[in-house]
Amino acid sequence: MWWGSMAKLPNMLSLWNLLVLSLALNVSLILRMVSESQERYIGSSCFKKQGDGHVFHEGSLTISSSLSSNFANSSRANHPQGNGRVINLDHGDPTVYETFWRQMGDKTTITIPGWQSMSYFSDASNICWFLEPELAKELVRLHNVVGNAVTDGRHIVVGTGSSQLFLAALYALSPPDAAEPISVVSAAPYYSSYPSMTDYQKSGLYKWAGDADSFEKEGPYIELVTSPNNPDGYVRRSVVNRSQGLLVHDLAYYWPQYTPISSPADHELTLFTVSKSTGHAGMRIGWALVKDQEVAKKMTKFIELNTIGVSKDSQLRAAKVLRAVSDSCVQERRFQGEESFFKFSYNIMSQRWKQLRATVERSGMFSLPRFSPAFCTFFTQILEPQPAFVWLKCEGEIEDCESFLRRHKILTRSGRHFGVSPKYVRISMLDTDENFMQFLDRLSAIQIQS
Ligand SMILES: Cc1ncc(COP(=O)(O)O)c(C=O)c1O
Repeated sequence: MWWGSMAKLPNMLSLWNLLVLSLALNVSLILRMVSESQERYIGSSCFKKQGDGHVFHEGSLTISSSLSSNFANSSRANHPQGNGRVINLDHGDPTVYETFWRQMGDKTTITIPGWQSMSYFSDASNICWFLEPELAKELVRLHNVVGNAVTDGRHIVVGTGSSQLFLAALYALSPPDAAEPISVVSAAPYYSSYPSMTDYQKSGLYKWAGDADSFEKEGPYIELVTSPNNPDGYVRRSVVNRSQGLLVHDLAYYWPQYTPISSPADHELTLFTVSKSTGHAGMRIGWALVKDQEVAKKMTKFIELNTIGVSKDSQLRAAKVLRAVSDSCVQERRFQGEESFFKFSYNIMSQRWKQLRATVERSGMFSLPRFSPAFCTFFTQILEPQPAFVWLKCEGEIEDCESFLRRHKILTRSGRHFGVSPKYVRISMLDTDENFMQFLDRLSAIQIQS
């Protein structure tokens, strides 16, 4: 067949020409494969000292997954020109999970015809009348699969991100006719957005009152409990513990990739978000699990007054993504070798934390929090927390860690924003592989220059 068609070619190519051509093509193919495998080796190569004294990473990536192994290919060696640019790790933008979602292909694609989702209403019989039943179903399923929250006897209120639900919760918990705004507190270091979100509208209902540890005012108060905490990653409980306290538990990071799941959270009012659980921050979907029916009604009212509901398109998309997460967990349990979303994300976080700890230990200039391992009911193993942020302390004479790192083209968020000393900074661990590797390279280089 091959010879037959070749015989039709004009006499320009003799058999000898063809043999030479085919030999040349094979040699170039072999050379390319060799060069690519060398690049990959360099790419996955932990802290190898080069001739010029610069420290490069040798990330002996032990991630067992095929999906996670893409991480290995994204090191500095593959992005050699990234040296001079600014690495922005100030925000917690969760792009780290993009690889997983790319690999899922069309499993999470949705098509919404023009005639669908037109009404304001999703389920008029529900307290939260704009909550899509499909999303409600997937939220309950996911919490049951992960075991991180009690959903029985809870009202679900959906929000445009948990940020909107945070404001809805403050509105719903504040006494409507009090002589003065109720105090809102959280133990320092607290999530840097709490003070500004609480006060930016100068509400007559509630007012930021700072660090819960030093809060002494009598009377009612709202305490925000973030667990694991942003910025430092520690598991937390309420600290004020007085009879007139109302609690909001912000459990944005209570997912197996960040912290061992100890038991299903069982609080009065709990906030969750897809932003940090699946990494879909752009979808702007959060949800609250609320025990008290009146509180759920008031939160719903707040969202009605604020945005007349929450995008149905986003809710349907969130439902599809959450279904894929739950399915991946069920598949992993059923067929060994499959990898759930949480296994994938756990492995990446674990790898990043190992690499970061090694870099920081070598530097002698910085320190990191230490976490106690605990039993995780999801992975059925004793595991160490591996938070979404690094809470880094500049040791020695560096008083302003943020400015110090900015001089090295690493943008972080100062401890000041979290109510503590500027010797601390918060650094995102959820950025792209490329930025994370560049960040490690920068940290390694600092120790050499200084
Ligand atoms: C503790 C905590 N709560 C809430 C949020 C906001 O989440 P969302 O994107 O759902 O508004 C964040 C985002 O960084 C966070 O860290």
